[in-house]
Amino acid sequence: MKRKVSLVLLACLFIFMLAGCGGGANETGKTAGEEKIVIGTDASFPPFESMSPTGEPEGFDVDLIKAIAESQNINVEVKHTGWDPMMAGLEDGSVDAAIAGITITDDRKKTMEFTAPYFTAKQVILVKKDAPAVSTIADLKGKKIGVQSGTTGQFLVEDKLGKGYSGLKGYEEVAGAIEDMKNGRIDAVVADNAVVKKFTEQLKLDNVNIIEDKAAGQEQYGIAVKKGNKELLDKLNKGLTAVKENGKYDEIYSKYFGK
Ligand code: ARG
Repeated sequence: MKRKVSLVLLACLFIFMLAGCGGGANETGKTAGEEKIVIGTDASFPPFESMSPTGEPEGFDVDLIKAIAESQNINVEVKHTGWDPMMAGLEDGSVDAAIAGITITDDRKKTMEFTAPYFTAKQVILVKKDAPAVSTIADLKGKKIGVQSGTTGQFLVEDKLGKGYSGLKGYEEVAGAIEDMKNGRIDAVVADNAVVKKFTEQLKLDNVNIIEDKAAGQEQYGIAVKKGNKELLDKLNKGLTAVKENGKYDEIYSKYFGK
């Protein structure tokens, strides 16, 4: 008897859900306001994105995209995919957009769209204090250099020391490279300035130097959008302008970087 009742209840619930989803749907199959955008990220890049103790992506980028979405009345789900799957996801459509400290480059623009820049960054060199002094990436010739694979750190090293430079070691995450440098398996790490700084603080690395290569140019982070999704790109750009104007951007900035 009890079983029958619960079966009937289940059936009702099912019908109710079906009806609920169908009700009020427009041609695109979505009701206004319930549109959900999947934002890919690689949550291994503090303070821009890392995993919270409860397994949610958190950080500057996460707060920023949520503020932007709120200002445009869009629902977002920020999903940790990892770097390569995120980039691939922008092409195959498994993510609608991505925020991950992604540098806007001409090459990437061929396969994805970018919003206006939201952050200025630079590649820096992390070396041990007791290592021979270096001031540029070119000075690292002959040394083992760790980078996150597929990032501008890798591209810069290849640019200065040649594609296929034998001392170049690619890692899935910046943390892996730093770990290897700590253990003496590589000599240097090239990665984004704020992230290198954050990791050195988190890991309390006090016997290291962070060096700025004067010849390395500035980079601009943008939010990447699947190519052709002009509607979403416009909304994100509008939202970015809105949060810059209403003080929300500054609030998030000082939360992660101070005044
Ligand atoms: N800014 C660099 C790039 O675009 C590195 C970004 C890495 N981001 C990350 N979440 N792991 O290539």
